[in-house]
Amino acid sequence: MKKVITYGTFDLIHRGHINILRRAKDFGDYLIVALSTDEFTAGKGKQTYYTYEERKQILEAIKYVDEVIPETCWEQKIDDVVRNQVSVFVIGEDWRGRFDFLAPYCKVVYLPRTEGISTTQIKTELGALASAKKKRRGQA
Ligand code: CTP
Repeated sequence: MKKVITYGTFDLIHRGHINILRRAKDFGDYLIVALSTDEFTAGKGKQTYYTYEERKQILEAIKYVDEVIPETCWEQKIDDVVRNQVSVFVIGEDWRGRFDFLAPYCKVVYLPRTEGISTTQIKTELGALASAKKKRRGQA
């Protein structure tokens, strides 16, 4: 069985996430998603809308995903790849070059991002919608 691994926060799942999960799964038979924990995300100065357990539950319901493991630090990748006998590491090309150090352990693939969508964009647009609604109510 050929195993593939990918990493990310996967908050507010959108079609960019679905596309990368589908294309990652195409590289093998079994897809592992290493999902950033809430603590790891906070350490990067970010905060998710959904908790780790909620994001995990959503990912596990996606047909391309076979297993979700926690991503707790930057340094765990070699160990994850070796321990899980992973053949292919896949990530979006916004990370191009950053994980080339995994090449002695597995194939490293950077995939083009889906244009025009991101979790940050969704949060910004929802925030703007909420402000507009509040403003309309204030004027009513
Ligand atoms: N991704 C993608 N296309 C997008 C958005 C994300 O291919 N439009 C990929 C990323 O390159 C990464 C994975 O999906 O490999 C998980 O990314 P994540 O950071 O969770 O999603 P973003 O929407 O980029 O979140 P944020 O805006 O918070 O950075």
